[in-house]
Amino acid sequence: MNILLLGSGGREHAFAWKIAQSKRCTKLYIAPGNAGTMQCGENVNLPISDFEAIGKFCLAHDITMVIPASEQPLVDGIYDYFIQSNDLKQIPVIGPSRAGAQLEGSKAYAKQFMERNGIPTANYREFTKATYDEGVNYLKQHAMPVVLKADGLAAGKGVLICKTVDEALSGFNEMIQAEKFGTAGHTVVVESFLDGIELSVFVLTDGKNYCLLPTAKDYKRIGEGDTGLNTGGMGAVSPVPFASSALMEKVELKIIQPTISGLKKEGIEYKGFIYFGLIKVGDEPIVIEYNCRMGDPETEAVLPRITNDLVELFEAVKAERLGQTSIVIDKRAAVTIVLASGGYPEEFEKNKVIEGLFLNKESIIFHAGTKKEGETYLTNGGRVLMVTSLAANLEEALRISNESAKRINYDKKYYRSDIGRDLGLSK
Ligand code: AMP
Ligand code: GLY
Repeated sequence: MNILLLGSGGREHAFAWKIAQSKRCTKLYIAPGNAGTMQCGENVNLPISDFEAIGKFCLAHDITMVIPASEQPLVDGIYDYFIQSNDLKQIPVIGPSRAGAQLEGSKAYAKQFMERNGIPTANYREFTKATYDEGVNYLKQHAMPVVLKADGLAAGKGVLICKTVDEALSGFNEMIQAEKFGTAGHTVVVESFLDGIELSVFVLTDGKNYCLLPTAKDYKRIGEGDTGLNTGGMGAVSPVPFASSALMEKVELKIIQPTISGLKKEGIEYKGFIYFGLIKVGDEPIVIEYNCRMGDPETEAVLPRITNDLVELFEAVKAERLGQTSIVIDKRAAVTIVLASGGYPEEFEKNKVIEGLFLNKESIIFHAGTKKEGETYLTNGGRVLMVTSLAANLEEALRISNESAKRINYDKKYYRSDIGRDLGLSK
């Protein structure tokens, strides 16, 4: 079958790498892709928000499966666009309907969904311009720290953790009155701060059944020891040593199963990935956020540990056969290190020549912000490459990833060498 994958980051290269290994895949197209995805298929210059152009491309190229790897097309309703078109409805889109994607697209919607379905999450209230004064009073009496979340998609920047009332009031004002995040901040969720350790849990669901994927943990801060500014993610590990079977049993019982049955009960079509951003407080897992897609850079640590044919899993999603499918997980541990451009997540330069890309045999090198000109690979973004290594334990995987990271060079290369070290690195 011919498959169209949408997106251009490290996550998309990991998907392309895995899909290219499938015996069910004849031809893979990636729109728009990067210099890494072109090693796995053909990059095509299609904007991922132009559903009409995507639909036409699918018909012209006999595409029989579309995989949107990032949230924007899902939140914008690409699933619904295909289902509602006579010509396209037979082409499965692996992902939720627009309503399902609101679990990520609107934090207020996600909180209301969790409340209706008894899913553990931090206490919250939501406010708008109309209830601004009430919000100010609420914040003045709220325990600190407090968490403010712009309701809509804000490229990972719409969450503020405020230590003082002054900070909270100024953040609240910036979101609602000054519209710092545009319409995304017209509604603000104010929620209690949870003190614990975070992990990412992923399932693939056909709307009825689900398969649990390997657990992962991402490292969002730019600096060693988890310090400094927030980024899109500087590394990830899988599995997560503290995700014991007792904890995961609670996650399935209290979080995953009520989420999937809630979606079904509420008539929300959902055939794709659900990303549960969790925090472990004491021994209890609590939901911090839902995403309607896989995580980045978690995907780059998780997919190499799945031995199943990914396209067969997607076919099982389409046929609602996931109940008869099991995920086979490689026992080895994975550590992914992100190589960034110096300066990221603030200003950074692009177009640096990348050397040493093909020296590594021990690691898998996924591309994120890269482009190819002639035979030369150039940096083209803040996060440039993701280096994943698999080994008997996290410690060894980290060692190999660090060795590989050293062998790749470009001007102002930056990476964290401590990914996973806080976990004691025992598996
Ligand atoms: P989100 O965009 O919802 O993933 O939030 C970004 C980050 O903010 C999360 O990964 C957490 O580190 C942090 N965060 C969000 N909500 C809370 C909360 N209620 N308590 C503590 N930290 C939080
Ligand atoms: N790793 C965080 C995310 O993908 O949202």
